[in-house]
Parts: sequence; C-alpha cells; structure tokens
Amino acid sequence: MATEFDFDSEVDRREVPALKVHPMVLGEDGAELFAAGVADMDFRVAPPIIEAMRQRVDHGVFGYEAVPRGLMPALTGWLETRHGWTVDQAHILRAPNVLNSLAIAASLFSEEGDGIIVQPPVFFDFFDIIRENRRSLVENPLVLKDGRYEMDFARLELMASDPRNRILFLCNPHNPVGRVWTQPELMQLGDICARHGVLVVSDELHGDIVFPGHNYTPFASLGPGHAHNAIVFLSPAKSFNIAGCCWSFTVIADDRRRKAFQAENSRLTVNKNNAFASVAMQAAYRGGGPWLDAVILYLQGNLDLVRQRLQQMPQVELIEPDGTFLLWLDFRKLQKSPDELTAFLRAKAGWAATRGIAFGEQGAGFARVNIACPRARLSKALDQLITALS
Ligand SMILES: Cc1ncc(COP(=O)(O)O)c(C=O)c1O
Repeated sequence: MATEFDFDSEVDRREVPALKVHPMVLGEDGAELFAAGVADMDFRVAPPIIEAMRQRVDHGVFGYEAVPRGLMPALTGWLETRHGWTVDQAHILRAPNVLNSLAIAASLFSEEGDGIIVQPPVFFDFFDIIRENRRSLVENPLVLKDGRYEMDFARLELMASDPRNRILFLCNPHNPVGRVWTQPELMQLGDICARHGVLVVSDELHGDIVFPGHNYTPFASLGPGHAHNAIVFLSPAKSFNIAGCCWSFTVIADDRRRKAFQAENSRLTVNKNNAFASVAMQAAYRGGGPWLDAVILYLQGNLDLVRQRLQQMPQVELIEPDGTFLLWLDFRKLQKSPDELTAFLRAKAGWAATRGIAFGEQGAGFARVNIACPRARLSKALDQLITALS
C-alpha cells in the first residue's frame, strides 16, 4: 500500500545534536556506522505536528503558559479510540519524562532496601533507577520458549510473596524483546501482584507501535481492582518520534497514591508547561493517527526485509516481535562474549547496535537493533552483516 508519507528519504540527523548519531554514542570514529542503538526513529514527524509547531513559532512570543485546554482531551480521546481505554482526566498527571516518573514511583512507594521486581532482559534504565534509589534489584527473568519470551509466573508468585518486594516494574510492550503482553498474561501478573500487595508500575510508552494480530492492553484497563494497584506511564515520545520535545503522562487511579505523586511533583517543581511540547503532543494525538499507521506499515516492510536477509545468515535468529521498532537478534550461535560480539558487529559489519548484555545477563549473545530507518539504509546494513558472517 502506497502512503502519502515519505520514510525512504534520508534526513541528516547530524544537522542537530541527535544522540543516535552523536560521537557520545557512536564514538569519535563512528560516523559511518549503522546507528541502530538509541530508540528513536529517523523519520520526519507527522505533518500536523510540524504545521502546529510552525504556527506556534510564527506567533513569536514564548512566555509562561498554562497547559492548553485541548491537550488532555486529545490524549484521552486517543486512548479511547485507539486502545478502547477510557481514562478519567482527573487521574492523569504530567511529568518531564517516563524515567523521572519511574524514579519517583520507586522512591515514593517503597523504602530504601526494598525489592523491586523486574523481568529481564529488560530496558536497562530500570536497573539504574533501582540502584540509584538504593532499592534492591529482584530479577524474574523471562523465559525464551520456542523463539518467544514468556513470563515465569510460578517464580513471580514466589518473589511477590516476599514482603520485602514492594513494586514490580512492568514493561508493556516489552523493550527489548518486542512482546506485547496479552490480556490473560497481564491479568495473571496483576492477580499475583494484587494478592501479595506488590504495586505494578507499568511503563507503556511503546504501546502505540503494535503489529497486526496483536493488541496493546493498557494494564489499568484490566478492571478497577488492577487500575487501583497500578501506576501507568504513557508518552507520545516513541509513537510520534518526538522524544526531544514532549513530556510524559502518569495515570494513577488510586487517590491516595495520586495525591502523593502530585505532591512529589510539586516538591520537585516539575510542573511547568513547555509551550512547544504541548503543541507537538496535542497535534500528535489529534492528527497523527494516519502517519502512525503508515509508520507501522513501513516497519513491517523493514521487518520483512530482515526476515528475508536472515535466510542467508543461519547464525543469527530473529526473535519475532509483536510490536515496537526494536528487534532482538540472537547471535549466540557465534559463541562470542558480549565484548567480542560488540567488536565484531562494529568492526566487521559496521553496526552500532545496543549490546544485549545491557538488558541483563540474559541478554549475553544478543543485540537490540532499531529498524526505524529508511529501508535502503537497513538493506545496506544487512548486506554488511551478511558479508561479515560469510
Ligand atoms: C521502555 C522505555 N521506557 C522509558 C524510556 C525513556 O522514556 P523517556 O524518554 O520518557 O524518559 C524508553 C526509551 O527508550 C523506553 O524504551
């Protein structure tokens, strides 16, 4: 299906200090590498976002502002029509970004030394937040069964039943393995946590990018009981490629916890509105749907290309993703240590992917690869990998 959007053209991200291609990430000698690490897209954003921001710039005055009246309805309208999730606007707080809110949740709803359960391989910042807030990391590794990751519910039950473990950090959908957790899976997890008084802190910022045949289930949509035992983070950052100019949202149905969270936001004075962020987010949620649909289609095309080229690389296995623009590739057949694999991919294939080990020791031998780039670039990178492996 042809679309009105152009994802094939290269945008030179070096015109701005984009992290994905910055020497800070790629190294001083990394300019020619396939930059597949940092989790944003190389595509120009949806035209309605650019137009709304342009109009805002033309206005020419950028003083202090309130949050535009239309923003929260744009968000709740999106959640309702896109995901069938009705959210009370009064339950939504805003925050500078998801990581900031994860840290606040950890510090507010657990004590120093308490356990926070994570399910590795998982987004590496979870580990840092737990460590930096002096909580203890409790791991319930995902289980890789026939090429698909699953949660280990029996082990989760054991961990949740330990009264020292107070919180579970859920990644829904799951970065880096691409699982979009199903309703029954989330229900089982939610029931275990509820039974043992473990608070579910659910990072759902990848929820909008899901492939056909899969459905993102917002954790708090499971029912009032689960909603009251959850803190949910949302953000248009990944979906609309506006990580550099947006904030995030925290949905908390439980009044007591929401008031505590709000008080902490006030204490940290993180409530100021950023005029450009508001404009970008409102335009995204109001008019970004067709662009996002086209992105998902394009990502499916990129994924098909990866599948096709991997047929020439029996040493590498793709963990089939249900969603997200991040692929989890299994290089374990190469029998290289994490350092050797990183060096091999960089030196022989020209790839700067994210080291699997960064997501926990279970990620040794894997790499996470961002495929949200023009197809020609991905194709070249895959050719380089084929040459490196042959
Ligand atoms: C699962 C997950 N959570 C949070 C973040 C970061 O979100 P933010 O930029 O809002 O802090 C990322 C970015 O890659 C992510 O993948």
